Amino acid sequence: MRYDHISQLLRDKRLGRSIFHILSRDELGFPPADPRLTAFDAFQEHHILDMEGRGHTRIRGLVQKAFTPSRVENLRLRIRDLVRESLENLPTTFDAVKHFAEPLPVTVIAELLGVPKADRHLLRPWSAAIVKLYELGYSDEIATAGNTAVLEFSQYIQDLAGQRRLEPQDDLITALVQVEEAGEKLSSAELVANCILFLNAGHEATVNGLSSALLALHHHPAAKAELVAATARADTDSLWQSAVDELLRFDTPLPMFERWVLEDMDFAGVELKQGMELALMYASGNRDPNRFAAPNQINFSRENNQHLTFGLGTHYCIGAPLARLEMGVALRAFLEKFPNYQLPEQPLEYTGFVIRGLKQLLVQTSS
Ligand code: HEM
Repeated sequence: MRYDHISQLLRDKRLGRSIFHILSRDELGFPPADPRLTAFDAFQEHHILDMEGRGHTRIRGLVQKAFTPSRVENLRLRIRDLVRESLENLPTTFDAVKHFAEPLPVTVIAELLGVPKADRHLLRPWSAAIVKLYELGYSDEIATAGNTAVLEFSQYIQDLAGQRRLEPQDDLITALVQVEEAGEKLSSAELVANCILFLNAGHEATVNGLSSALLALHHHPAAKAELVAATARADTDSLWQSAVDELLRFDTPLPMFERWVLEDMDFAGVELKQGMELALMYASGNRDPNRFAAPNQINFSRENNQHLTFGLGTHYCIGAPLARLEMGVALRAFLEKFPNYQLPEQPLEYTGFVIRGLKQLLVQTSS
């Protein structure tokens, strides 16, 4: 799919992440909602990723403050310590998903939100069950597990919000609870749904981006050598940032997002009817040779590398500065410690197509 088509469609107000705010399922001639997914559907209705118009602007404005580049930059040292800790005392062969890619993003987003350490083991399984519902087609078992995870996760956030009402802390849940109390700006359902969204969106793609980056660097030794050489120098922040962006362009953790057609329109000679759903292939746009010269090569000096990995337009990723910082610091720490890492022969299995990440990546190290 062409980069310029995706980029135009993402800025076009005649498309939206949701259509049910303007037309009901009946009016659209859709079959009734899936009865297995009542909790999941209610969750989708109340978080910003699936909202349009004023509701979206209102909530996005409230939470964006927690993710400004300067607030995020203050987390740099904490992030560095967390990665170094996760790389301590590992055997010479280990699963880099479990020991490197997962712990950092989960801990950082849980700390930002204010999820106590003792409860963090609950987040990954809930998130994993929920994100399976974004894949194309699922069994009864997956539907039930995902819906149950939303119910349990929602109850957990409600209880935590209740505790913060009584004893406020310096975390995002407290900030959102105070907004909720201040003047009906955030309903209880919105508070819960958006906390779940942040906890899930705040780690899934970063975990997947980190493990895919190790795989890509293994297959591109010159790019890997460039970064290993940079670990010995201090003034390389901009190289790590370019490297993260290039690796995220090269292997896009969230390859596809959908948009609803809100009104009839013609686009690039194609007639689009209200109620159609378009699959926008961000990963494909990221390899469009009309936009990126030699797109299948990794080039950390690539100019104007405005890839689609974090989206574009009104739903542009709120967490992009955080994800970039985490990935840059984590990759640097990994290559500092394991400059000669190798990947043994192994079958590579991915979690899904929409949320695409390695289930496991065995890494062999000699230092
Ligand atoms: C490598 C990591 C990440 C990738 C690739 C990624 C990608 C994306 C993309 C593509 C979108 C827009 C979806 C669309 O166009 O329909 C998005 C939205 C969003 N992301 Fe991320 N994201 C990442 C990390 C994060 C982190 C760390 C957070 C932290 C909270 C986060 C929170 C969000 C939220 C809340 C939205 C919804 C924004 C809105 O609808 O206005 N993401 N992300």
